[in-house]
Amino acid sequence: MIYTKIIGTGSYVPKKTITNDDLKEFVETNDEWIFSRTGIKERHIVTDEETVDLAEKAAIIAIEDAKIDPSEIDLLLVATVTPDNYFPGVSQLLQYRLGLREIMAFDVNAACSGFLYVLNIADKMIKSGAYKTALIIGAETLTRLTDWRDRNTCVLFGDAAGAMIITKSDTNNIKDVICGARGDVDDLLICKSVDIKDPIVNAASQQDHIHMKGSEVFKFATRILPKTVNDLLQRNDMVLDDLDSIVAHQANERIIRKAAKDLKFSMDKMFLNISHYGNTSSASVPLAIDRAIKTKFLKKGDIFITVAFGGGLTWGGAIIEF
Ligand code: UT7
Repeated sequence: MIYTKIIGTGSYVPKKTITNDDLKEFVETNDEWIFSRTGIKERHIVTDEETVDLAEKAAIIAIEDAKIDPSEIDLLLVATVTPDNYFPGVSQLLQYRLGLREIMAFDVNAACSGFLYVLNIADKMIKSGAYKTALIIGAETLTRLTDWRDRNTCVLFGDAAGAMIITKSDTNNIKDVICGARGDVDDLLICKSVDIKDPIVNAASQQDHIHMKGSEVFKFATRILPKTVNDLLQRNDMVLDDLDSIVAHQANERIIRKAAKDLKFSMDKMFLNISHYGNTSSASVPLAIDRAIKTKFLKKGDIFITVAFGGGLTWGGAIIEF
């Protein structure tokens, strides 16, 4: 039986930060509203860096952390909704930048659940016996898609990348990963690609921005987060007490608090770092896991669930013994 485990993590955020007070320059808002509704105090934002730059920096840290030679990596997956090009993908650019072998590398778009999707794919591909060591990344520059005149969305997002190395193992550490999607409510959270009808006549129109029906996404998130946790526990004959912690997608502290309350799980065991980063979409989960490890919130041997939800709509979760 082939199992999988995490052997290294890394994360990176751009240097520039924007505080809630700074946002008053763009929209009518205030620190009290943003912090009390979301838990966000500040977010990091790119100036001259692209998604691939953030991904590269997080990946280098993860490779160092795993103490492996880059040539050992035989699979590279990047979750992103903000690739720098339609093609080539961030993953293909990274293959060269990181000096990897000419391995399979592709991007996955599943919005804020993207990292759970790449974790699921890499986990299953290693367990199939076809691959041995995967570099998986969530990297986003969502602030490039943000409408800085829309106070409903511009206060929420930040830029970041998180990376993880997972490898073939004799011990069953990545115990289960599940993912789901439903496209019937796509308009709750959407950013259209360039819309060109009759392309010979019409030149390329401008890039769209993020549109979100916040309160409906909130309802979905507070339902799917505990459901995914319970589904994972049930599938694995486990109970909440078996968990040391939950590392959830950092979209809104209120969503995490509500999920903890509904699950009857102690808030002390829910990882939180949204105050510094905002919602970084696909980067949120690997950034949170990396910060949880580096701050010793997650310790060797801990069993935790990581869970995410996002545009699509999509969701995903995993039970991992660190
Ligand atoms: O990664 C997954 C993606 N997204 C999410 O998980 C987001 C889920 N949704 C949410 O987190 C929340 O719905 C928000 C934080 C986006 C909004 O919080 P809310 O409590 O649902 O507020 P609301 O949209 O119902 O707005 C309440 C009021 C409105 O004013 P009126 O109509 O009551 O006068 C808004 O115009 O707050 C106003 N408002 C703001 N005021 C100050 C909305 N944005 C702001 C703002 N500053 N930035």
